[in-house]
Amino acid sequence: MDPCHSPEPPSRRSELPEVSGRTLERGQGGTDEDPPLRLTSNENRMGLPQSIRDAVVEAFEDAHIYPDDSCAELTRALAERHRVAPDSIVHGHGSTELLRISVCVLAVEGSRFRLVMANPTFEQLVGYADPYGPELVEVPLLRDSWAHDVEGMKREVQQDQARALVYVCNPNNPTGTLTPVDQIREWIEEASPRHFFVVDEAYFEFVDDPSYETLARLAAERPNVIVLRTFSKIFSMAGIRVGYAVAHPETAARLKKFRSGRGPNHLGNRAALAALRDPAIVQRALKSTREARTVVYGVLDELGLEVMESHTNFVMHEVGGPVHRYVERMADAGFQVGRPFGALPTHNRLSLGTPDEMRGWADALRDFRRRRWV
Ligand SMILES: Cc1ncc(COP(=O)(O)O)c(C=O)c1O
Repeated sequence: MDPCHSPEPPSRRSELPEVSGRTLERGQGGTDEDPPLRLTSNENRMGLPQSIRDAVVEAFEDAHIYPDDSCAELTRALAERHRVAPDSIVHGHGSTELLRISVCVLAVEGSRFRLVMANPTFEQLVGYADPYGPELVEVPLLRDSWAHDVEGMKREVQQDQARALVYVCNPNNPTGTLTPVDQIREWIEEASPRHFFVVDEAYFEFVDDPSYETLARLAAERPNVIVLRTFSKIFSMAGIRVGYAVAHPETAARLKKFRSGRGPNHLGNRAALAALRDPAIVQRALKSTREARTVVYGVLDELGLEVMESHTNFVMHEVGGPVHRYVERMADAGFQVGRPFGALPTHNRLSLGTPDEMRGWADALRDFRRRRWV
């Protein structure tokens, strides 16, 4: 199941609530023709930056020709960015293609393996692994920091002779929290080659904690780890589907065998190059995200609702009751917010929109408090 996409269809629309003395406008969502504001899939609601749009339009000129399968220019740009060899880069149709492929590699290369991951975390890998039937081992996040319980995961991996696919999402989706990079690095450095690590850094660019860093270089050096990155989040390219892995060249070669050929598509390739060449994209997105987060933290503090410290473009916060009811009421108020996560029945994952959009959501939440719903 893709936790980025709510399996619950927007609920039936009731009367739109009055919020701070004004009724939410239809333009803000609430009818089937005019769906609720989408704050659910951790996308970048600022839209596709102009420099990327221009690059895509220009790329139409050559769109009738099969693309360069090696994506030489993009590969070089990414290799330079990560200070690794070009043959350490593997492109994918979004980073989810690389998640799927990493499972395929493990499944064909040997006997049984276990899938070890945190709970809650990004669950896409579970669906991809399912056809191969690995034992799923979920280790709860630490309750004080909401970081991965690295020691607990390590114990789980070591107590069984089976191979393990270890998934570490840092920052973690859906909590937005960080796991100390040193702990992950130390574990990988001492791990048996039977243990294969997928470190998902989908939200890397949003983090400004000075202790945080990428493990891409470590991945390029060690055959049992890959680092995943995506253009879907800060670069606003979720619909264009470009992601990549950084891996040891031998591992990269193993992964490439399972890729569908001729990818990424020419327009995505050009879009990604434009994204890398325009540093203002990240700066603009960070500014907006910080402001939006401040709005969200402000109202949650005002209402006394617990919030996890977010290092991403989404925030996990308490809703003071069953999350499914909250999600339904928010949909009625014109806001499609994240779906329930089993381990956190009274919390909601809220994807950040623009600061103005979050002010609208904050007004709705205040209204919920007046109604004693949160
Ligand atoms: C942690 C994490 N990894 C990977 C992805 C998938 O990204 P992509 O669009 O590159 O497939 C997501 C999407 O929400 C995510 O949250």
